[in-house]
Amino acid sequence: MNDIVKPFTVIAVSCFLAFIGKAQTVPVYQDMSAPVEDRVEDALSRMTLEEKVALLHADRSYGAAGVPRLGIPENDLTDGPSGMRPEMVWQTWAHAGMSSDSCTAYPALVCLAATWNPDLGYLFGRSYGREAVYRSKNMILGPGVNIFRTPMNGRNFEYMGEDPYLTSEMAVSYIKGVQSDHVAACVKHFAVNNQETGRTTINTVVDERTLHEIYFPAFKTAVQEGGVWAIMGAYNKFDGQHCCHNRYLLKDVLKGQWGFDGVVVSDFGGTHDTKEAVENGLDLEMGTDLGSVEAFRRYKLADPYLEMLRSGEASMEELDDKVRRVLRMLFRTKMSGRQPWGLLASETNMAESRRIAEEGIVLLKNDADILPLNLSDMSRILVVGENACRIMSRSGGSSEVKSKYEIVPLEGIRTRVKDSVDVIWQPGYMSDATPEKVDSLRKEAIMAAHDADVVIYVGGLNKEPGQDCEGVDRQSFNLPYMQDELISGLAATGKELVLVMISGNSYAMPWINDVHALVQAWYGGSEAGSAIAAVLFGDVNPSGKLPFSFHKSIGDCGANALGAYPGDGKKVEYSEGIFVGYRWLEKKGIEPRFAFGHGLSYTDFKYGKVRIDHKRISADDSLTVSVSVTNSGNLPGAEVVQLYIGDKVSSLPRPVKELKGFRKVFLAPGQTAEVSFVLHKDAFSFYDPGVHRWVAEPGGFSVMIGSSSSDIRGRADFVLE
Ligand code: BGC
Repeated sequence: MNDIVKPFTVIAVSCFLAFIGKAQTVPVYQDMSAPVEDRVEDALSRMTLEEKVALLHADRSYGAAGVPRLGIPENDLTDGPSGMRPEMVWQTWAHAGMSSDSCTAYPALVCLAATWNPDLGYLFGRSYGREAVYRSKNMILGPGVNIFRTPMNGRNFEYMGEDPYLTSEMAVSYIKGVQSDHVAACVKHFAVNNQETGRTTINTVVDERTLHEIYFPAFKTAVQEGGVWAIMGAYNKFDGQHCCHNRYLLKDVLKGQWGFDGVVVSDFGGTHDTKEAVENGLDLEMGTDLGSVEAFRRYKLADPYLEMLRSGEASMEELDDKVRRVLRMLFRTKMSGRQPWGLLASETNMAESRRIAEEGIVLLKNDADILPLNLSDMSRILVVGENACRIMSRSGGSSEVKSKYEIVPLEGIRTRVKDSVDVIWQPGYMSDATPEKVDSLRKEAIMAAHDADVVIYVGGLNKEPGQDCEGVDRQSFNLPYMQDELISGLAATGKELVLVMISGNSYAMPWINDVHALVQAWYGGSEAGSAIAAVLFGDVNPSGKLPFSFHKSIGDCGANALGAYPGDGKKVEYSEGIFVGYRWLEKKGIEPRFAFGHGLSYTDFKYGKVRIDHKRISADDSLTVSVSVTNSGNLPGAEVVQLYIGDKVSSLPRPVKELKGFRKVFLAPGQTAEVSFVLHKDAFSFYDPGVHRWVAEPGGFSVMIGSSSSDIRGRADFVLE
């Protein structure tokens, strides 16, 4: 039965039962044609106190009980944002060692964000959702939408960059894709979880305006536009209270102001107090304390909660609200009768993963158009670097994926060039080598470079702790394993040198002027190596753009410059406020190494004049901004047209510019696209903490259209009355 036939069959059976008059014998909660809210109320009315509480806490590593007596299934969760985690033994964190849980590794979310293509966000979510259904999961613990505050955060690769608007747009598309398969997305980690140092204890101090302008928007949009069905609390504290049971975050903002009707899930082991968890809005407690049935009964929302309910210390209304939310999710997912059949690690999934990896690759530098490489000009390619052969998807913390396979860059390159050219590999460095060994590896690679026509260096970071990995932050902004010395040594040979960097963060580039080309390839999932080869040899014209600024030095990042990272062990104060990423660089007049939104192509794009339909508008009007973009080169390609707004005079300090729109256009050589954006007052507003709301202040504004945040191709001014 295919994925279209199955839901129709279910509906047809329900209709048939109704037709022959048996529908009244089916309880409402089982009736898939009944409204979800009716089903929730019916199920709730049939449940005992113990059954209700059992729904609200884990009963194994990655799941929570259903109501077996009523035939209501369990909740089955899976990490993480980029593909499914291997099955675990139910009461430990050990992999179950199954042979049927290999799946597709999708690119890291930072790569998805670099596509600047919401259609791919949807494709990602839908493709991954089908894998989840195949393995009977009804909740994916992703997307991660925490903002890049510093490049030192070890988990940035799981997130979508430094800009709230870009992150919001990409998150919404991913969520819609996942949920189109009737699998719940669980957006995480709410909120202000922007470093791993002290991650479970640190108290994050952030002012109200910064919360609303920088750290909340992706969550708010996920709820209000994405209609997300679950949200995960963060490990850290905010305002002195743990985020998983933080009254302001969960009760006042999320469920109050934003009207969230889904499930608040704790991060694993992030619940510390029963009373706070009960009263402040946590619905489903997941944990790290495993081992036995008794261990799960000790969870804060298990026996301790039951005791509070029995003694009258906790209210039944509060309990029913939590149970309703969990039931609602089950009726939206496993009990919707509308889940597709599922697809696991199929050719289709792999091709979708590859497409995202290809579109996310960012060409940062391409001197003298050295790329794409022309095979007819060469007989020997030297590939250098451990990352050319390193599997990345299986590590990094909770986002590990048991990929059915992963094409590493060397394999991708060899497959692409076939026998036409010799491809030699030299490690150049090894992550586990002694300094003496690293020295000899470097010398061997440099020697080999002399005999090559071109050197492709594949390095960067990896998913080891201290690099791009959950649990600890990075140790250094410089590349590890003495790669800087190696790259400089290779450059000194005078050979053509192309760098392919694998990382989810930026890094120092002391050698930047000595290399000819630089390709930022992130973590590309199962088809990473094929995607890299396709870009290097010109089968794919790169069209990714940076979702965060690359700094020249770590001191150029606001949080680091102010000594406001990583805090004093107890608290971290976000003293740079709203000035995160390019907002900080532009305020301070600091030139980035590569700007937010930057990314080159093998073709060129010309922009026409920026046009606006009104010179003066009122706050209730919309403003239409139009610009034409022409592919003026010789190859088909795609450009991301970016729209930024600048407020000329404001009662509160504002960034020089802020991203408020973008559109990716695919153009044949000579083709022109007319791109229009319709802006409303939210695009001109800032959050005024004095009145606790967004305000569009009258005055002069500029609308800027650019190919990156620092490459503005045209602007127009208007007045908001
Ligand atoms: C991570 C979450 C993850 C959870 C379950 C936690 O350590 O912070 O992102 O979903 O583990 O694996």
